[in-house]
Amino acid sequence: MSDNGRKSPPAAGLSRRGFLKGMGTGLVGSTALADGLLGQQASGAAPKAASRGQDIESAVVSLTVNGKKYTAEVETRLTLLDLLREKFQLTGTKSVCRMGECGACTVIMNGRTVYSCMLLAIEADGAKIETIEGLAKDGKLHPVQEKFIEHDAYQCGFCTPGFEMSLKDLLDKNPNPSLDEIKHGLAGNLCRCGAYPHIFNAALDLAGGKKGGR
Ligand code: FES
Ligand code: FES
Repeated sequence: MSDNGRKSPPAAGLSRRGFLKGMGTGLVGSTALADGLLGQQASGAAPKAASRGQDIESAVVSLTVNGKKYTAEVETRLTLLDLLREKFQLTGTKSVCRMGECGACTVIMNGRTVYSCMLLAIEADGAKIETIEGLAKDGKLHPVQEKFIEHDAYQCGFCTPGFEMSLKDLLDKNPNPSLDEIKHGLAGNLCRCGAYPHIFNAALDLAGGKKGGR
């Protein structure tokens, strides 16, 4: 498959230690980074210099989420996930593993899917973010959401926002993916309830393909 920014399954060898080390140096190490997924470098939100005796630095970040501008002062250790959920109350993006393994926290940043738990908020400074809250327009669900309902493509629903953001991004870039392309495009999202056949059928329906998720 062409490199369209889709996530790949976690690569071997990534450790939380490595991630934290990456955070400490301002670079995010992640499974997705190896795939170019998190290719966004810090855009330069300047942290406030810590004064003597202070352990925590903060920075002001400004970003656009679902077309709306947000600005917040954040601790430099805050993840994009927590910025969205805790500062902006956009809780549709789910927090599950917080280790870049499940994809529940997937959002679209500057046209590429990212694990928001693996990015620092300061790295999203100036970015355009799309979250699940932005899919429906004018009270009408996005086609991806409608097909998930039609195909019963969830059980507990915790993985659903992440899957839907990944599928939306896939279809934006490839409106008629094959089943293999759909499976590859959604490979960075895990469903513990095993709703994959229904998810794939929803995706195939959107792609105009035949049912065949099983
Ligand atoms: S919560 Fe981010 S990948 Fe699982
Ligand atoms: S529907 Fe429960 S994890 Fe996917």
